[in-house]
Amino acid sequence: MGLLRTMMPAKFQLLALLAFALAVLFIENQIQKLEQSRAKLERAIARHGVAEVEQRHSEDAGREPSPPAEKDDTVIIYNRVPKTASTSFTNIAYDLCGKNRFHVLHINTTKNNPVMSLQDQVRFVRNVTSWREMKPGFYHGHVAYLDFSKYGAKGKPMYINVVRDPIERLVSYYYFLRFGDDYRPGLRRRKQGDKKTFDECVSSGGSDCAPEKLWLQIPFFCGHHSECWTAGSRWALEQAKSNLLNEYLLVGVTEELEDFIMILEAALPRFFKGATELYRSGKKSHLRKTTDKKPPTKETIARLQQSDIWKIENEFYEFALEQFQFVRAHAVREKDGELYVLAQSFFYEKIYPKVS
Ligand SMILES: *[C@@H]1O[C@H](CO)[C@@H](O)[C@H](O)[C@H]1NC(C)=O
Ligand SMILES: *[C@@H]1O[C@H](CO)[C@@H](O)[C@H](O)[C@H]1NC(C)=O
Repeated sequence: MGLLRTMMPAKFQLLALLAFALAVLFIENQIQKLEQSRAKLERAIARHGVAEVEQRHSEDAGREPSPPAEKDDTVIIYNRVPKTASTSFTNIAYDLCGKNRFHVLHINTTKNNPVMSLQDQVRFVRNVTSWREMKPGFYHGHVAYLDFSKYGAKGKPMYINVVRDPIERLVSYYYFLRFGDDYRPGLRRRKQGDKKTFDECVSSGGSDCAPEKLWLQIPFFCGHHSECWTAGSRWALEQAKSNLLNEYLLVGVTEELEDFIMILEAALPRFFKGATELYRSGKKSHLRKTTDKKPPTKETIARLQQSDIWKIENEFYEFALEQFQFVRAHAVREKDGELYVLAQSFFYEKIYPKVS
């Protein structure tokens, strides 16, 4: 009995100690949680206090209701120019189409020919405008701009695109044909086995790096007119500029793809809600790198820049860049090195006649 009496308190002591340790752990955990939510609250207050009109795109996206099931006839056409990082962006559309409920279709043209026959133009326009099951839809492919209004069809699509520095685009294309990329590494490329560098090609006057090969972004924006495909045409340049401003919702640049995606998400959340997060988190997996690419020398660049074709293509690129920067300046604000999309800053008033 005497032994039992001395043992009991020791057992209780141990139990009490254990219970106390558990309680401490629990309280610590609660405190940590409170600290975290307080910090979150402070950040939110700071943000709203400083800039009421600004919203972080991700929060903006989080607050919006999920895409409505209501009828939406929007059709977007992304007539991508080869080697402008278009695959990175297209992959995002494929990643989002299930969740955001829209359709994505690749326009596969025979031999990637960007010019369609007249009969195909009519077929394509009629099909896209009347194919209800594919609306809302996102079409992408290497096709020159088509003016839907001249085919007697109802409804026009929204065009978007991305352009790139013309020499960088050509260099990327040159090596892509020879070495492929890490996207489809097994695929045999047209010029596989040709070890000539871009510099060697330019200095020996090769055809794959000739100034005519720079003539691509202008015709893609200019369209299906003969003059669009005349390398160095000033008329084509003006037509491409006019289409860019009047027929395209937004044209980004490869060098600032993230900002392009961010603005697109703000303008068309029905399609692109979540696109910026996806792009940021998957930057590596979405980036398609041409393997074995050697940057061209100053001499090579200087030589290409002497051609009129480069001058005109580059004028178009700079025009597109300036327009994009203008759009961006009016769509976002920068704070602490981060971009924030602006919230709606218009409203209606003086609505008459009054409803009784
Ligand atoms: C387009 O279709 C052809 C023929 O079916 C196919 O060989 C080719 O890989 C397709 N192009 C792309 C980019 O998927
Ligand atoms: C559009 O073309 C596709 C493929 O050829 C076809 O399956 C579909 O029925 C067409 N839609 C309309 C409305 O013509």
